[in-house]
Amino acid sequence: MHPIEDLTKEHGPIKLMLRILERINEKIVNGEPIATADLNDGVTFIKEFADKCHHGKEEALLFPAMKKNNIRKEIELIDILVAEHAEGRGYVKNIVEAISQKGDNLKNFAEVFVDNSKKYITLLDQHIDKENVILFPEANASLSEAQLKELASGFENVEKNIIGEKRHEELYGIVHKLKATYL
Ligand SMILES: [Fe+2]
Ligand SMILES: [Fe+2]
Repeated sequence: MHPIEDLTKEHGPIKLMLRILERINEKIVNGEPIATADLNDGVTFIKEFADKCHHGKEEALLFPAMKKNNIRKEIELIDILVAEHAEGRGYVKNIVEAISQKGDNLKNFAEVFVDNSKKYITLLDQHIDKENVILFPEANASLSEAQLKELASGFENVEKNIIGEKRHEELYGIVHKLKATYL
């Protein structure tokens, strides 16, 4: 698959997870019970699919390839995007800690979980929009055919050898299972 198309496509299930997370937040705020297993599944999807696979492809392959072309406005945007990935990891860490306290302190769990997931949703929604609308068209315009080809094979390597094809499919399964429960 064309590498930029691949990344654009991956934004779909990530945005879907954000919508599921919004619904989970609503339920928590309303005091409705939420299965801890579903929360852990959501975190697994975010950590492995959104961060390790998708942000991994961007940080290890796309961004360095674009930076090589030395276009100042692209470099500035990439630096912001990398900082946003790091900011997101901080919220996810807090979300994981909140889930671990769910059994002992439901009130604290609810506060920390909702606060951090709201921040994560806002951050990622605008981050993805910035990539779709500004960065990816820039990448298509500035990367050479050879660079795009190299990216495509690099992405394939991430899916096959870093994530694993079977795991990649399982991760899609997780988000669709959560969608059926919450949306
Ligand atoms: Fe990104
Ligand atoms: Fe992205």
